[in-house]
Amino acid sequence: MDNLSEVLRHLREAGGFISGDHIAGRLGVSRTAVWKYMNQLERYGYDIDKSKGKGYRLVGTPDRLYGWEIDRYRSGGRIGSKIVHKESIDSTNIFAFKQALAGEAEGTSVVAESQDLGKGRLGRKWSSPMGKNIYLSVILRPSIHPSIVYPITFLSSLAVSDTIEGFAGVTATLKWPNDVLVRGRKISGTLIELSTEADMVRFVVIGIGLNVNMGPEDMDREIRATATSLFMETKKTYERPRVCGILLSNLERYYDLFKREGARAICDIWEERARIRGKHLTINQMGEVFSGTAKGIDRDGAILLEIGGTTKKILAGDVNF
Ligand code: BTN
Repeated sequence: MDNLSEVLRHLREAGGFISGDHIAGRLGVSRTAVWKYMNQLERYGYDIDKSKGKGYRLVGTPDRLYGWEIDRYRSGGRIGSKIVHKESIDSTNIFAFKQALAGEAEGTSVVAESQDLGKGRLGRKWSSPMGKNIYLSVILRPSIHPSIVYPITFLSSLAVSDTIEGFAGVTATLKWPNDVLVRGRKISGTLIELSTEADMVRFVVIGIGLNVNMGPEDMDREIRATATSLFMETKKTYERPRVCGILLSNLERYYDLFKREGARAICDIWEERARIRGKHLTINQMGEVFSGTAKGIDRDGAILLEIGGTTKKILAGDVNF
């Protein structure tokens, strides 16, 4: 933990005023250094009461996805052990991808308050208004064959659905391959991008968009009829760092399972949660439309569709129920 987060921790634990002397003593720094940290915190948007006689008191915390705030709710582990926070960015996936190419370690995560070029699946745009939602990209370096990388998408939707069910008490449903819905509307999506080399995966970037505090007025018109957010579902606003910290911990748990028990285990959990078996589905695969009965999820993440007695394997597309 760096000194700035330590100062913040002391302010929070004090609950009221705490003297500069006390903090300086605990950190082993001068009182001037403590004063500088307070100024730095103010620049980050924290509201600090400063009194000559009494010291410092934390009055307000900004609604920002700072790494040290997310860390308060993360249960340790590699995923999110380093968090890069951006106020505004083209896309957290683009940034994380560049970082990964430059050798950034597994677990490093990029979060942003807004994205100008938020990317969705199949070349779509991801609506990314400022300060409302979670836009998160995590670098993973699994030692796996590229053919089984696809179920990593499921890790993310499982982690998201656990997070929002636990947190907001909503019921999440999973839609192949990567959507999380609430009452039939999309609340989260995942875009995985990867770099491979012959028979191995160099790295994967999991990009997660989760709509938290966004209202209909923050949404691009084209998604208003089909998207939702935790706020819209529950009429409550949520502390985004908390949601993000829990999401990272859930992601870690499923990633551990994936590494320990393999892609099949993740596909099985996803298949069961999505209750996909036996459902009649219509899938649009790049303009080609297939209708049939879902037989399940293959080990590589593909959906198996029975159409007139034969089984068709589909790896990309959009499902319509
Ligand atoms: C989809 O459902 O189409 C996938 C949406 C993925 C959006 C997230 S937001 C964080 C990360 N950065 C991006 O540009 N996209 C992903």
